[in-house]
Amino acid sequence: MVGGGQLARMTYQAAIALGLTVRVLSDRADDSAARVGAEVEIGSPDEIEALRRFAAGCDVLTFDHELVPPQHLAALRDAGHTLYPGADTMALAQNKRRQRQELGALGLPVPAFSTVSSESDLLSFGEAHGWPARPVVAKAVRGGYDGRGVWLLEDVPAAQRLWAEVTARGVELIVEAWVPIEKELAALVVRRPSGETAVYPSVETVQVAGICREVLAPASIPPDLADETCGLARRIAEAIGLVGVMAVELFVVREDEQATGSSGRLVLNELATRPHNSGHFSIEGCVTSQFENHVRAVLDWPLGDVSLAAPAAVMVNVLGGPPGNDPQAELARALADPVVKVHLYGKDARPGRKLGHVTVLGQDLEDARARARRAAAILMGEG
Ligand SMILES: Nc1ncnc2c1ncn2[C@@H]1O[C@H](COP(=O)(O)OP(=O)(O)O)[C@@H](O)[C@H]1O
Ligand SMILES: [Mg+2]
Repeated sequence: MVGGGQLARMTYQAAIALGLTVRVLSDRADDSAARVGAEVEIGSPDEIEALRRFAAGCDVLTFDHELVPPQHLAALRDAGHTLYPGADTMALAQNKRRQRQELGALGLPVPAFSTVSSESDLLSFGEAHGWPARPVVAKAVRGGYDGRGVWLLEDVPAAQRLWAEVTARGVELIVEAWVPIEKELAALVVRRPSGETAVYPSVETVQVAGICREVLAPASIPPDLADETCGLARRIAEAIGLVGVMAVELFVVREDEQATGSSGRLVLNELATRPHNSGHFSIEGCVTSQFENHVRAVLDWPLGDVSLAAPAAVMVNVLGGPPGNDPQAELARALADPVVKVHLYGKDARPGRKLGHVTVLGQDLEDARARARRAAAILMGEG
């Protein structure tokens, strides 16, 4: 696995049960996965030489993040290494402009968008699709995460300020229509090279300031909308030749804003072709976790059952609290509620950083949510 973050750590955890060894290419010896005894090779996933050395000892390469330079991925593929997901899929996943263009070309519901190569591109899109009634949303084509790289532009001066800033930093942009969101969903799909595909029950994700805070499973949406969501995820997985786990982020458009017809209800946001925060609940919440299924998929082994293991599952992220807060030190108090399952990633605490998560299963979503929130608050130094 290229990258040694918490996704590699939890993938390794799943692999242990299958008797497998995961080798990790990690920037630093104290990265999340590097700390737990995976076979670690220290090196930068950005450097082709480090990647080549690492790949030489692996049966199959997979990824903890999508930021590996695409030309390096193509070079590894051309040298005969097996990459799952493949180099082309990874290149798509790291480029929001290509996602909009290619998913739009498949006839899938993407928001109105435009490529941006000048300030006037940004301004004319704002005039046509937003201002003054609503904002438009500018996004970095590459490298954004947790809301970094997403800007809500309310007016011309805001767009001009952003343009000056991003051109100085060499950041490429797209701009898209602001979507009046009722809720955000994620559909997790897993596919193996031979084509077998499974789609997890759709979940609702709750973002605050661009960062995922909670995941509610199953999403409380009408069955036909749930089917549509799963159908979209499956179609995308097949269209891009996915191997492994992919999260498809979607928006449910507010009812008073919906275009007529069922396809007016859902708008695609972005793809992540790897285990994803929206699927952490599946460790306890599903018969087979996203991490185990990712491993099974990249080895072309039969996929595990993705059904829910309880009527409701709620995951709440543990973010770094105020300076001095250490979730590890609060663990005993958080565990006082016996239904609470805590996962800490072994990362140094910094305010706002994802340090872990809490999952609670139950009969009732609101009860599970309250208990998961309480435990997460304790870990974040708020309890
Ligand atoms: N077109 C949009 N309209 C309204 N809100 C949006 C739009 N695009 C993104 N957002 C909000 O910003 C969040 C982060 O955007 P996203 O493109 O998923 O970036 P990231 O890569 O940081 O997750 C989304 O989860 C959503 O809450
Ligand atoms: Mg996102």
